[in-house]
Amino acid sequence: MSKIRFDDRVAVVTGAGNGLGKSHARMLGALGAKVVVNDLGGDIFGGGSDQRAADVVVDEIKAAGGEAVANYDSVEDGDKIIQTAMDAFGRVDIVVNNAGILRDKSFHKMSEEDWDLIYRVHVLGAFRVLKAAWPVMRENQYGRVVNTVSAAGIYGNFGQVNYAMAKLGLHGMTQSLAQEGASKNIKVNSIAPIAGSRLTATVMPKELLDALKPECVSPLVGYLCSEANQDSGALFEVGAGWVGRLRWERTQGAEFSRDGDFGPDDIAAKWGQIGDFTDSTHPTNTQESMVPAMKIAGLA
Ligand SMILES: NC(=O)c1ccc[n+]([C@@H]2O[C@H](COP(=O)([O-])OP(=O)(O)OC[C@H]3O[C@@H](n4cnc5c(N)ncnc54)[C@H](O)[C@@H]3O)[C@@H](O)[C@H]2O)c1
Repeated sequence: MSKIRFDDRVAVVTGAGNGLGKSHARMLGALGAKVVVNDLGGDIFGGGSDQRAADVVVDEIKAAGGEAVANYDSVEDGDKIIQTAMDAFGRVDIVVNNAGILRDKSFHKMSEEDWDLIYRVHVLGAFRVLKAAWPVMRENQYGRVVNTVSAAGIYGNFGQVNYAMAKLGLHGMTQSLAQEGASKNIKVNSIAPIAGSRLTATVMPKELLDALKPECVSPLVGYLCSEANQDSGALFEVGAGWVGRLRWERTQGAEFSRDGDFGPDDIAAKWGQIGDFTDSTHPTNTQESMVPAMKIAGLA
């Protein structure tokens, strides 16, 4: 029996009708959480709707002895999703922002609608869900949030300018919310998963899809959503039975005159030093980030 359990905890998983969200919801339900299975049941491009997507997962969780309710709203109506949790279970302890779609196109072909829709589902949706859940978590002095980002956001990806923007934006939310939630025991982390799903079926061959099981991502989500987890603001890559953590890395850099008495030629002369990762540092907040500049300014 798992030591980590979610008895008496209420979990909201968005986009839980398919793929990764379905796997997370089933795992949380199997480990005792009361689960709100949110999914509008659309296609991968953000069109259509079908309540069966969420209903099937609710039925599965119940058949396995768990508790779950469906919610069919878009994450753009995040307040309604959280209201479902409050009406059914009276609280919210866990939010997994997982709902997602794609509008892949090279930038020169990308319309403003492609840009905006991806922003609305991934970023505005997460904002609206969390905006409604946050006061409840603050009041309860407890919360665990997992935001689903992507390697495309971390590293960039051809044809995914909109998606990369949204996913790294979401991690920006993670890092700042982690700081704002710290005093209320609210931990917020990001995962960049890799798994076979409807989304990746557009870009991966079948043998790879079959090898990358969503169930290999859910255990990390479970840990991050548990009381055991004390980390916050972190970013993890996860898939196929592997989990790793990322952080920022910065070079020692090069110093110039604090009077501004230098030009592009001086930058060119020290370009190697600016990009030399020997003895690199790993700032974790804006205060640490500012230390070298503050030293030159004579303020640190
Ligand atoms: N599969 C991967 O390898 C991978 C890699 C990186 C990131 N991701 C991210 O993981 C998340 C889950 O993706 P997946 O691969 O399981 O895809 P999926 O298509 O199988 O599942 C996504 C679910 O989100 C739902 N959804 C879409 N828009 C919604 C909205 N506005 N409101 C509510 N539900 C909505 C869909 O109906 C669908 O059931 C996404 O955020 C995706 O960007 C996946």
